[in-house]
Amino acid sequence: MRRVPLAILISGRGSNMAAILEASRNPQWPGQPVLVVSNRPGAGGLDTAAKAGLATASIDHKPFGKDREAFERELDRVLARHGVEFIALAGFMRVLTAWFVRRWTGRLVNIHPSLLPKYPGLDTHARAIAAGDQRAGCSVHYVSEGVDEGEVIEQADVPVLPGDTPDTLAARVLEEEHRLYPRALAKALRAYLERKDGAA
Ligand code: GAR
Repeated sequence: MRRVPLAILISGRGSNMAAILEASRNPQWPGQPVLVVSNRPGAGGLDTAAKAGLATASIDHKPFGKDREAFERELDRVLARHGVEFIALAGFMRVLTAWFVRRWTGRLVNIHPSLLPKYPGLDTHARAIAAGDQRAGCSVHYVSEGVDEGEVIEQADVPVLPGDTPDTLAARVLEEEHRLYPRALAKALRAYLERKDGAA
């Protein structure tokens, strides 16, 4: 089975990216990371990726101002140059336009730190605690035009414990994210390969 050329998009420390890179060391894993892109030039994850021998690109969104599509056209050019077929958003903190999402439909997935459809957007852990939820978690989903609204591929959950703060809960959820993302992404990549190549 061929491995799908994969880009990982980050904005920060890139711990989910690192979990994906680790999983991809197994030759049976269906993706081949070829590029890590950050929209923030100082993102810590860029160093981690470079140390792992990966090509990295930093495309600062700031010079593009409000022209989101111009930023995305540049991003799209860089992805094409590296032969990318599939994108994993891993802590990429920019909302993508309908233009980009349509272009990559079915080949664009995200990890979100809540049990979607609960708590799309920001401050998910504070909102789960404030609501008195007993369980919190994370979701890997296809990206659609509505923010955090695309089809869920897989979720993992953890208990919310007495005395939890957003930070303690985030740390518990993050451990699950690192297990969930490589697994759910593999599922999406296999589905893509079946659609595209008819591979088993
Ligand atoms: C993760 O918790 C991820 O779920 C979240 O940002 C963190 C990135 O951490 N993503 C979002 O909130 C997307 N809206 P990481 O850079 O260490 O992977």
